[in-house]
Amino acid sequence: MSGDFLALAQPGVQQLSPYVPGKPVDELARELDIDPAKIVKLASNENPLGASPKALAAIREELAELTRYPDGNGFALKTLLAERCGVDLAQVTLGNGSNDILELVARAYLAPGLNAVFSEHAFAVYPIVTQAVGAEARVVPAKDWGHDLPAMLQAIDADTRVIFIANPNNPTGTWFSAEALDEFLQDVPAHVLVVLDEAYIEYAEGSDLPDGLDFLAAYPNLLVSRTFSKAYGLAALRVGYGLSTPTVADVLNRVRQPFNVNSLALAAACAALQDIDYLAESRRLNEAGMQQLEAGFRELGLAWIPSRGNFIAVDLGQVAAPVFQGLLREGVIVRPVANYGMPNHLRVTIGLPAENTRFLEALAKVLARG
Ligand SMILES: Cc1ncc(COP(=O)(O)O)c(C=O)c1O
Repeated sequence: MSGDFLALAQPGVQQLSPYVPGKPVDELARELDIDPAKIVKLASNENPLGASPKALAAIREELAELTRYPDGNGFALKTLLAERCGVDLAQVTLGNGSNDILELVARAYLAPGLNAVFSEHAFAVYPIVTQAVGAEARVVPAKDWGHDLPAMLQAIDADTRVIFIANPNNPTGTWFSAEALDEFLQDVPAHVLVVLDEAYIEYAEGSDLPDGLDFLAAYPNLLVSRTFSKAYGLAALRVGYGLSTPTVADVLNRVRQPFNVNSLALAAACAALQDIDYLAESRRLNEAGMQQLEAGFRELGLAWIPSRGNFIAVDLGQVAAPVFQGLLREGVIVRPVANYGMPNHLRVTIGLPAENTRFLEALAKVLARG
């Protein structure tokens, strides 16, 4: 007799929908039977610049040591991050992508009978990590597509252990101010860990977005998570980090895999962190690309949600799925966000100028076909 291994999975897992990634270029190239080089992918908020040459050089150098385990403590990278972020080494947790940090938080602090609070239209990994450990996912309705922080406070109860907030949020691009964050943090009960997900923070420099690090000293229940996948251009390598009190970092360290960040990723992240020019160029390109896409949407008479990330959600004023399919046939991959409760939007990553142009032209063509 064989067991029903779906029914045997813990209830939270049975109810989970797996994460849906952006469609890979090679997959579409196979389906359309065209050269992958002809395809534009603006679907996963990746950096269109390609990796920093300094990161690539660091990887090449590190290749000679592939037979060795990586430094399980990530000393070199943690030291650089601690310096850069103005925190102690003991406050840094490294993750296999910042996704790993979110998962470590859930494994360490959530369990059946407990809950995590997060917003409608928030990053799809929050429900996954919450339900995977049998905890309740408490989704608070969004306000103007963004986080309704006062309503999120109301959703907290004695069993809440974690709140996930993203600034800016993915896939909406929405953000909240320093004042709003400070008020929120003041009111969150001390037993609730606030995970401030700043995966896109480097793109928001010089804007009205707060820097989560400014709040760490005042709020021991705050963890800031960041990543090398976006502005630092290393998505494939999977490196992210959490900044928190040493106590929280110690707890996360207890549940993490001993070698959760590989040696090539560690070396590349160290190099990327020091490549100031690359980061500046990433930001410049993103700002120009955002303006290009906004101008294009304006011309097409389309609305969009203003964004502080490296992506923008455009409102097609109709169900977006057929337009998404039409764009695929034009060799352009963007991201449908119906699974985020946004059936009329498409999320588009800011690309190189020529990629943005390809996308806008394809969009105009697909919309004109009706
Ligand atoms: C808001 C947000 N947080 C976290 C992540 C995780 O990124 P990574 O695991 O590559 O660091 C993403 C990736 O898209 C994101 O959009």
